[in-house]
Amino acid sequence: MASYLLAIDQGTTSSRAILFDRGANVVAVAQQEFPQHFPQDGWVEHDPEDIWASVVSTCRDVLDRADTGASQVAGIGITNQRETTLLWDRKTGEPLHNAIVWQDRRTAETCQRLRNDGHAAMVQERTGLLIDPYFSATKLAWLLEHVAGARERAERGELAFGTVDTFLMWRLTGGRVHATDATNASRTALFNIHTQQWDDELLSLFGIPASLLPEVKDSSDDFGRTRATLLGGEIPIAGVAGDQQAALFGQACFEPGMGKSTYGTGCFLILNTGDKAEVSRNRLLTTVGYRLDGKPTYAMEGSIFVAGAAVQWLRDGLKLFADAAETESLARQTRSGHSVYMVPAFTGLGAPHWDPQARGAIFGLTRDTGIAEIVAAGLQAVCYQTRDLQVCMNDDVAATTGTLRVDGGMVRNNWVMQFLADMLGVSVDRPTVLETTALGAAYLAGLRLGWYQSLDEIAGLWRCERTFVPQMPEEERERLYRGWLDAVERVKCGPT
Ligand code: G3P
Repeated sequence: MASYLLAIDQGTTSSRAILFDRGANVVAVAQQEFPQHFPQDGWVEHDPEDIWASVVSTCRDVLDRADTGASQVAGIGITNQRETTLLWDRKTGEPLHNAIVWQDRRTAETCQRLRNDGHAAMVQERTGLLIDPYFSATKLAWLLEHVAGARERAERGELAFGTVDTFLMWRLTGGRVHATDATNASRTALFNIHTQQWDDELLSLFGIPASLLPEVKDSSDDFGRTRATLLGGEIPIAGVAGDQQAALFGQACFEPGMGKSTYGTGCFLILNTGDKAEVSRNRLLTTVGYRLDGKPTYAMEGSIFVAGAAVQWLRDGLKLFADAAETESLARQTRSGHSVYMVPAFTGLGAPHWDPQARGAIFGLTRDTGIAEIVAAGLQAVCYQTRDLQVCMNDDVAATTGTLRVDGGMVRNNWVMQFLADMLGVSVDRPTVLETTALGAAYLAGLRLGWYQSLDEIAGLWRCERTFVPQMPEEERERLYRGWLDAVERVKCGPT
């Protein structure tokens, strides 16, 4: 009997492959970064071949590291950076253009026009999303418009569209499967989250031919098998979810009111709202949390575009330190209550501001500001932004559990976690397995393959490693937060 589940976590800056055993323990990890392309201000692209090569090599690498082979892998779960848009030739599997990454703002004007023309309410009502360059629809329309011959070829049914999960499945199965799951579909702005179907009116609004679209399946489903030659044997692909929804699943947030926040490239706070697709009054998103047996569980999401990416910029752009692990000791050197604020709006502001033209800034510099204060300000920005989302969520949804489960690379930093608990005024629970996104994908595959019988069984595997309890006096918390709100106001250009 096979011993492992293989999770492929294709993220914004790196691809990871992780092997889990039945007890949800990490057996081996392989990771590979790949290049980011910034062809113009606010544009972000990935070469699909880099994505593909990094996925194949990390999968092979992780099997080597565990000294095992395909026959020991019961199934694959795929989780991925969401919204990122690819278009390829159905015959050759060759992409027509670089992938347009979720952070890319090139379609800001198109979005503005659509909003001016009064389409926002219809889009939100059907998709749970706002009209913003973040989502796939306008990125795909841009590709059809700007790649020579693409629209005609799409009309003739020669091309396929997909988010990263779909592209990987296509390649892994040798072009036999053109599918996605409901969580990824729910980020395209083409999918009606109530009917769980691609929506004809949305397709015509964005000018997208239906022939481009993948089949939408449950998150735990039969997505075909890998080509035998790729990893040394055919392996079933049995779970797929966008990375933030996979993290919700990996954190076992199965009850309405349970929420998690993931600190990767960006930060995404997601709250399970059960079978109700709650509509936000505060410009948060309604999305599919997961779909099992045809039944969607909905979630409310706040999306911040830059979290770990700010730390990466401080490291690689400003060269303030060599390793992200140093940020904890640097931040500890600052006097508490310093008032340097960094607003990392490198690619505009996401929820709840939705200002694609805003750009980053650092405020409050004095003669005694040093590296430590700037680094701390970058870390604190992530916590302030989480608070922005929490304020909206508390207003939108009555019942929340009052604690927050966290994951992602940044949560290793104890200083950040304490500041987060202080800023939110709620306990922050850090689980023992921080690879929550990958774990969620593995669980989804495991459910399909009969490794796990129920969500209760999965919930029973969740373990808390440490709880951070708020300690900061209320007055100080509010003073610091007011300073943040003031800094954000100063970088805004005009909301979506
Ligand atoms: O919506 C974008 C998100 O899926 C990207 O996640 O982990 O690459 O920041 P991450």
